[in-house]
Amino acid sequence: MSQPRIVVTRRIPQPALDLLAEHGDVWLSPHDRPLTREELFDAVKGADAIVCLLHDQIDDEVLDAAGPRLKVIANVAVGYNNVDTEAIARRGTVWFTNTPAVLTEATADIAMALILMATRRLGEGERVIRSETPWVWSMFYMLGAGIQGKTLGIVGLGLIGQATARRAKAFGMEIIYSGRRQADPAIEQELGARYVSFDELLETADVVSLHCPLNAETKHLIDAARLQQMRSDAFLINTTRGPVVDEQALVDALKAGEIAGAGLDVFEEEPTVNPGLLELENAVLIPHLGSATIETRTAMGVLAATNAVAVLGGEEPPTPVVRVG
Ligand code: DGY
Repeated sequence: MSQPRIVVTRRIPQPALDLLAEHGDVWLSPHDRPLTREELFDAVKGADAIVCLLHDQIDDEVLDAAGPRLKVIANVAVGYNNVDTEAIARRGTVWFTNTPAVLTEATADIAMALILMATRRLGEGERVIRSETPWVWSMFYMLGAGIQGKTLGIVGLGLIGQATARRAKAFGMEIIYSGRRQADPAIEQELGARYVSFDELLETADVVSLHCPLNAETKHLIDAARLQQMRSDAFLINTTRGPVVDEQALVDALKAGEIAGAGLDVFEEEPTVNPGLLELENAVLIPHLGSATIETRTAMGVLAATNAVAVLGGEEPPTPVVRVG
């Protein structure tokens, strides 16, 4: 009997490739870049499993190109705004999985790092040194905002939001949060977190950190009006997905001093960054590094491979988003 065809759209860590190779014929993209649409259509032809990345748009066209053997699509990411889950569910024959939980701590580290970088002006400070700009210590030189005793507003207290809150609490911050539903009382108690309306969160938090998924409801959740609601000494942190923030509105708000600063790991049109942001000293900008540790990327790859292999073996995958049957 022929081996299942497993298509991997871009290189993932070797332990994940090894696991897949034990269970099928792996086709791995030879390119160190996202596949073009045409290349993706060609690659998935006759696939039993597709292991894809966050830059691959998975929709009806890709499902059609794959054909009737397709049983599972395993996204190597927790976020899946790149995938048309309704189109997959309509087929009724294809599982879809993501990689929750394994990147929680790494992403929360980056959120906390951005909170510290933005409030303490670390990017700006590094630019002074690297550009050999003259500087001398003084009582009033490059003062930032302390975070001890300040309020962190978490938008979406899921796993990453909770892990960020835990870190911020250790730095002496008070935690408030908003979201579609109130968290378990045990979690609220552990974090000392208070559930508030989105309006109250924006109006009172010293730092607003975004942890909600990107979907039709959260696209441009932070727009010009929402930015105006924030305090003029507040900071916005985004480690979820770029389009949750209207980037041009953010540039305008930062320029006008409507908020004090921002720390961004994600952008609306990655890898392009709004040129307005590049000119701003009060914006800390890093290139989507949330899950970028060797350990985390390996765990993500292995979880995605485990999901694919489980379905190919006729079992339920560990972390399904769209189920079959
Ligand atoms: C995810 O898994 O959604 C992350 O953004 C990848 O870094």
